[in-house]
Amino acid sequence: MKNNEINIKVEKIIFGGEGLGYFDDKVVFVPESVPGDELKVNIISSKKNYSRGIITEIIKSSKNRVIPKCHYFNECGACDFMMMNYNTQLAYKKEMVKEVVGSLASIFDYELYDTIASENIYHYRNKVIQAIGKENSKIISGFYKKRTHDIVDNDNCIIQPVIFNKIIKKIKENAYENSIIIYDEKSRKGSLRNVMLRINKIGEIMLVIVTNEKKYKKIQQLAMEICNSFKEIKSCYISINLTGSNVVLGKENIHIYGEKNIYENINGMTFLISPLSFFQVNTHQAEKMYNIAYSYINDLENKIVVDAYAGTGTIGAIFARKSKYVYSIELVKDACNDANRNIKINKLSNMKVINGSVDDKLIELLNNKNKVDVIIFDPPRKGLEIEIIDKISNLKIPELVYISCNPSSFARDAKLLCEKGYKLMKIQPIDMFPNTNHIEIISKFEFIYN
Ligand SMILES: C[S@@+](CC[C@H](N)C(=O)[O-])C[C@H]1O[C@@H](n2cnc3c(N)ncnc32)[C@H](O)[C@@H]1O
Repeated sequence: MKNNEINIKVEKIIFGGEGLGYFDDKVVFVPESVPGDELKVNIISSKKNYSRGIITEIIKSSKNRVIPKCHYFNECGACDFMMMNYNTQLAYKKEMVKEVVGSLASIFDYELYDTIASENIYHYRNKVIQAIGKENSKIISGFYKKRTHDIVDNDNCIIQPVIFNKIIKKIKENAYENSIIIYDEKSRKGSLRNVMLRINKIGEIMLVIVTNEKKYKKIQQLAMEICNSFKEIKSCYISINLTGSNVVLGKENIHIYGEKNIYENINGMTFLISPLSFFQVNTHQAEKMYNIAYSYINDLENKIVVDAYAGTGTIGAIFARKSKYVYSIELVKDACNDANRNIKINKLSNMKVINGSVDDKLIELLNNKNKVDVIIFDPPRKGLEIEIIDKISNLKIPELVYISCNPSSFARDAKLLCEKGYKLMKIQPIDMFPNTNHIEIISKFEFIYN
């Protein structure tokens, strides 16, 4: 069937964001398609049970299809839902949660709310990392093409703040004028690798320029020129990354300009942002997410809470304003240092940061007979370890808030939790990443069986 051109009608969107249709009773997945589309599709791969095809012609558009606002949409790997109107994106995100939880966990009896929309569906990212490369003699920047390391040169990315585009454009111009050698992934030679930008709600910016060289004088000159050109830049670092890995920032991050941190205000509390620490990418949605998690627990004054996978302790700190005590567990040392500083800034006396893996530290905490009433889990994509699920259910920890950016690992964990006595009460999907297929959910479990 490979290389065949076929006509199909797209029936639905599946988890992962691709459209699904049928040809001769066989499933065909089509990226960037919308249910209702009638398409000519070129089959690019064919397996026993399914094929994958790319659109060669839209015969009839779904009523929910729109013209993507970004000119690079067809090439760039950053967004894959921009061809769908926003209400449809939200509806499918809810639908995908329902489908994944139903099919992988066989859980159907819980409240599933409508996806909470993002106020801004463009320019919403507070952090962007762009690769810098070279095409012939031109310096280029942007996200990668899907499933490649080929940069899509884009000076006008519409999911990042307009000022980020301006800063990156200026960096490329200055790098060209000053003959800075651009890093080449294949030979691992050259200097300028990546640019990372972070911005807070009041428009203050942190700039990090990543270089592949220990001697960074030229890069520093470039960085200083950029800092002097944009008054919004309040903090600047040079990150030295000599590795061949995909990890963007190096271990050595040298502060060269302005403040060491920028700060964000969430629900009246102040959180610092440093180059290496995790911070939710859509600030307004993060604020809503934290409020929802908070609203899930009653009678907080009398409760001891664990914020597991805590990052810089934002959720824990918000809970600590009311709860009896909060333990915040996080693997990354820098993030823990930031969390400790957040505790000081916000004058919290009832919160403790524990540096280490949740897999060890949570078990240790529980083994030491510390009373815990609520655990908030916000793990990375792979979800929870089975030992954690065993331990908390053996101890019958009464309430769990589980925040997840991956419905399929969430569903696997939800199934185990429910087998061990928990009930999934509700799921609130929230759109942290408009125009992409990414889904974030906030769920609540209660221990109900003896
Ligand atoms: C999705 S982020 C959540 C951060 C935080 N809740 C927030 O909203 O800012 C996941 C965090 O888990 C941390 N992490 C990853 N694996 C971990 C582990 N095994 N134990 C503890 N923390 C871990 C990461 O460093 C990251 O900060």
